[in-house]
Amino acid sequence: MEEIVFATNNEHKLIEIRKLLKGRYNVVGLKEKGIDEDIPEDHFTLEENALQKAMFIYENYGQNCFADDTGLEIDILDGEPGVFSARYSMTGDPVYPEMDTTKGNIRKVLEKLSGHDNRRARFRSVIVLIRDGKKFYFEGIIEGSITASPSGDDGFGYDPIFLPEGYDRTFAEMDLDEKNRISHRAIAVSKLVDFLNKAYH
Ligand code: IMP
Repeated sequence: MEEIVFATNNEHKLIEIRKLLKGRYNVVGLKEKGIDEDIPEDHFTLEENALQKAMFIYENYGQNCFADDTGLEIDILDGEPGVFSARYSMTGDPVYPEMDTTKGNIRKVLEKLSGHDNRRARFRSVIVLIRDGKKFYFEGIIEGSITASPSGDDGFGYDPIFLPEGYDRTFAEMDLDEKNRISHRAIAVSKLVDFLNKAYH
């Protein structure tokens, strides 16, 4: 069976994609491959970061692989936090070094949007697959807006302040199955899965 490395240590992402690929590929994470070095991720777009991570594995370990990168893009903030989503509260201005990163990230977004009517935003996920030296890109987008204050306890990251378009509940007020049916990551992953399932012989 063809082995493909997924450049992640996130067990949830690995389980999800294995299920969707119906056992046709052997998707292995970094831990299973014994790769514990820090993979650089120092570019300014999601595409470049995902490519950098996938190339790192391909060049150093000679294996087919894919990597993902996700960001929350807010229109009035010129696409911020974008590639800085994970550590937004620790970068730029202001910083909240004393706060839990997720709480700090949310606080920073809400403060920056305070007084603004335009609260349009989207989550965007990019996956880059390198297979036999060729690069393939898959993108998933969900449009929505940033709420005035956090609501909901489920989910992670910016879920409590992201209201997907056409819904009256934030991602954090949805159960995981419902979120996973419509999310940016689900869309990008399903494009990758379609591609791999078609390529399977
Ligand atoms: P990653 O590229 O999947 O590690 O995502 C980068 C950052 O984007 C995370 O640390 C979160 O802050 C944010 N993020 C990604 N996906 C989601 C999501 O589904 N909900 C809320 N925040 C997310």
